[in-house]
Amino acid sequence: MSARHVFLIGFMGSGKTTVARIVASAIGRPCVDLDEEIERALGMSVADAFVRLGEPGFRAAEHDALAALATAEPGVVACGGGVVIDPRNRALLHELGLVVYLEVSAAEALARIGDTASRPLLAGSSGALAATTLLSARESLYAATADVRVDTSGSTPEEVAAVVTHAIQEAAS
Ligand code: S3P
Repeated sequence: MSARHVFLIGFMGSGKTTVARIVASAIGRPCVDLDEEIERALGMSVADAFVRLGEPGFRAAEHDALAALATAEPGVVACGGGVVIDPRNRALLHELGLVVYLEVSAAEALARIGDTASRPLLAGSSGALAATTLLSARESLYAATADVRVDTSGSTPEEVAAVVTHAIQEAAS
């Protein structure tokens, strides 16, 4: 287990996927989207996985996808918002790379996401309440797992990516 990835963690809508793409291209590393890895492994969308396998089935696939990165070329990895729930994942993130927490408020996350249909945990009539409740339950896990925290409120993905790229360079020096 020697891969040194850069992991972007944080709530849904914090910009992990977009920022990962920009950072990966800036530092010349592959961009990995953990949700896409899970979808490829399961042969179904995240939304379908929640319906057909339930959240436990999705979380098991999420852990397997993260563990598989131990032998992958070091990349910039956008993690799903719930990756920090499993303590084994928190240990793996630390072991395999630099962990960057993209902080966002529940209100800004929801505004950025717009249509929540592809986010099973926020879909439905009470998305705002679900976002507030989930984020407050997870904030301490994100903070405890992070090596670096970046506040994304009011910033463009390009601005956030510049801060993340700088943090990566600092960590390497
Ligand atoms: C989840 C976040 C999603 C996806 C799944 C569960 C979560 O990823 O993994 O819907 O528990 O926060 P994004 O954070 O990329 O939306």
